Amino acid sequence: MAEYAAQDLAQAVIDRMADAPNPRFKEVMSALVKHAHAFVREVQLTPDEWMQGIQFLTQVGQMCDEKRQEFILLSDTLGISMLVVAIDQARGAAARTPAPDEQPPTEATVLGPFYWEGAPELAAGADIAEGAAGEPAWYHGRVTDTAGRPVANAALDVWSGDAEGFYDLQKGADAPMQLRARFRTDADGRYSFWSIKPTYYPVPADGPVGKMLRGMGRHPNRPGHMHTMLQAEGHQTLVTHLFDADSPYIDSDAVFGVRNSLIVDFGKHAPGTAPDGRVLNKTWYDCAYDFRLVPAA
Ligand code: BEZ
Ligand code: FE
Repeated sequence: MAEYAAQDLAQAVIDRMADAPNPRFKEVMSALVKHAHAFVREVQLTPDEWMQGIQFLTQVGQMCDEKRQEFILLSDTLGISMLVVAIDQARGAAARTPAPDEQPPTEATVLGPFYWEGAPELAAGADIAEGAAGEPAWYHGRVTDTAGRPVANAALDVWSGDAEGFYDLQKGADAPMQLRARFRTDADGRYSFWSIKPTYYPVPADGPVGKMLRGMGRHPNRPGHMHTMLQAEGHQTLVTHLFDADSPYIDSDAVFGVRNSLIVDFGKHAPGTAPDGRVLNKTWYDCAYDFRLVPAA
């Protein structure tokens, strides 16, 4: 048949994939075609709107370079990144049978565009703020597995924006690494480091995704958070954040990354001596959080 009725076009495209060599690719593309056609039919898309959509995607692509990934930002702000993270974590959990007394693992969230591989490995307790503006905060806790056994020598990567909400990667081509490091847990699974209490900030909103957000009547802000990535031999890698319970936008993260289990009450402390012996002449905070990793299947 050469001619297809509008409602049969999606199936016609799917039928042409009969000889696709990779079954998973065929499955994904068939579903994509099915849902894309259903979307066009549902909203009765006009040629002019379709052209606007194509121009938008073109601009998203043109905005991308080594440091700016507008497509990931689009995925983040449409909630798709978070959906993929949630599905992946559920898949990892389903791949193994937990013991009856196991605790749930720490929930994952988005990686975001500001991870920079190769941050320096520092001794436990080091201060990664190195004088950067912001309120000092002491991060501390343990890394265990879901059965409560300590995970020793886990690599804990941490990174955040500065007091104005800017990451080092946003500060020009030659800007050095700032407010990021890798720590190792001790034999008891303990970690600790100093940084700043993270502040809320907008995702990059000067490109097509920012324009889209404004068109949707949405703000671009993320609540204050410390990014973490945990990697340990024999365990599934965990990418997550610790969110400041007091931060503006905690209920309306622009990328839908907040999970209740990742919200932390930062303790507020008067100037004085911190538990690690450091003497502070200004108000400081502490963020206590224990991470639970899933043993590899
Ligand atoms: C971030 O938290 O760094 C981030 C995540 C998604 C989009 C933009 C920024
Ligand atoms: Fe962030």
